[in-house]
Amino acid sequence: MKRIILASFAVVAGLMLTACGGNGDQSPAATGTATITIHQDQAANIIPDEIYGQFAEHLGTGIYGGIWVGKNSSIPNTQGYRNDVLEALRELEVPVIRWPGGCFADYYHWEDGIGDNRPAMVNSSWGGTVENNSFGTHEFLNLCEMLGCEPYISGNVGSGSVQELANWVLYMTADGGVWADLRAKNGRKEPWKVKYLGVGNESWGCGGQMTPEYYAGEYRRYAEYCRDYGGNHLFKVASGASDYDYDWTEVLMAGIGQRMDGISLHYYSTTFDTPSHGKATDFDAEDYYWTVGKSMGIEPVIRKHIAIMDKYDPENRIKLLVDEWGTWWDVEEGTNPGHLFQQNTMRDAIVAATTFDIFHKYTERINMTNIAQMVNVLQAMILTQDDKMLKTPTYFVYKMYNTHRGNKYVPAEIRSDLLQKEEGRLADVHAISSTTSVSQAGKLSISVTNVDLDNEVDVTVNLGAGGKAFTAEILTSPDIKDYNSFDEPAKVGTVAFSEFSVDGESLTFKIPAHSIVTFVEK
Ligand code: AHR
Repeated sequence: MKRIILASFAVVAGLMLTACGGNGDQSPAATGTATITIHQDQAANIIPDEIYGQFAEHLGTGIYGGIWVGKNSSIPNTQGYRNDVLEALRELEVPVIRWPGGCFADYYHWEDGIGDNRPAMVNSSWGGTVENNSFGTHEFLNLCEMLGCEPYISGNVGSGSVQELANWVLYMTADGGVWADLRAKNGRKEPWKVKYLGVGNESWGCGGQMTPEYYAGEYRRYAEYCRDYGGNHLFKVASGASDYDYDWTEVLMAGIGQRMDGISLHYYSTTFDTPSHGKATDFDAEDYYWTVGKSMGIEPVIRKHIAIMDKYDPENRIKLLVDEWGTWWDVEEGTNPGHLFQQNTMRDAIVAATTFDIFHKYTERINMTNIAQMVNVLQAMILTQDDKMLKTPTYFVYKMYNTHRGNKYVPAEIRSDLLQKEEGRLADVHAISSTTSVSQAGKLSISVTNVDLDNEVDVTVNLGAGGKAFTAEILTSPDIKDYNSFDEPAKVGTVAFSEFSVDGESLTFKIPAHSIVTFVEK
């Protein structure tokens, strides 16, 4: 893990506390102070449901074992989908799932995954595992229907053909013709509704090693033949940049322009500069603040990509989809290195909450994000092992933040201690991160994260109006390294939070170190 060189955390925190007019107490159990002043009159953008989107790739046990066990499995299932995972996903109200990859998408030939004869293939993208193709188009689109979510299909541009992708669109969405007939023969008469279509994935890398100029030409050809049938309307997404590759965005905006509805961005809170990403469950304060600084570093990256988009699309029609993001640690010991199976602690939860706080600010341009990934891969919501299943701390962040869906984002001034200064690609880390939103009925939802590893913070929220009452819940755990294991699956989770008071226009409470609280107005 690449680390910035810091003085010890206590010194940095103490320095910043002094500089910010805090209490200057350098003892580990100091109490910081913070104010959040919300401006409900400036509420503007709606936070789309898809901000809380998921990504499920044919990677390790992300699909097989994690979601799909087949009808004959001893693991309780409904038509092959494991019941415990279905229930957990339903509870999460998943709005959209991106599938089948990732890198796998540009290697996937959809006709292998339909009908009775499904050839086995080697998943050369991920661990060389043999893929039996028993989870294919029907299984994915039916899952989306069962969950009531939008499908986001990632098409093969890297090793496929224009015709192959055009035929897939016909197979999924057309009312008549040979592909619709084949679909009916395979058990599905009615076309599905498919809203989002990705034209390739990471086309600069595992999706074909293309230059942006070459990809822009490919996109134009592929997208032209992916057409709308019946009442279906495709929202076409170009394979966008990773991290700091602003040139990729510039060339695509100039070369594809209004032929696309969206462009993607991938950003992981990790380093790819060293062979090790660090351990998911074993890290120190320096590692922790490095990770939070890196995850908050997505904000300037988003701003720069948006600034380029603004130049070519001032009307704001083309959307930015952060369709891969999250933490990336070394795999758990004894697991296949190509399967990206990692544990998930309170650190991951803090990353998720603070990243949402950033996404919410840019929903004029960002209409979807997809954390990598939904089950058993990278920063997952759910982990499974044989017939066991657990919900990760990140799952609980998604659940808590659901209250903001469909609400209008409310700008706020947040003042809290600076814990770590921006350096290189790491952003400033303040103690408090927050989102406020307001529902159509005028009710507030306020999420507050205390990023500080050791110190609780006294928070005052200036609500701008009196007469408000709230319910609240908290996600916290004594140790930042706490996680849910198969032996102790309910160690970390949300509980009701009642240690707050509302006096006139002020909401006040003490938020424990490394915790997340969400208030919902009654
Ligand atoms: O999410 C894991 C992989 O990361 C995806 O397959 C790829 O798109 C990215 O590099």
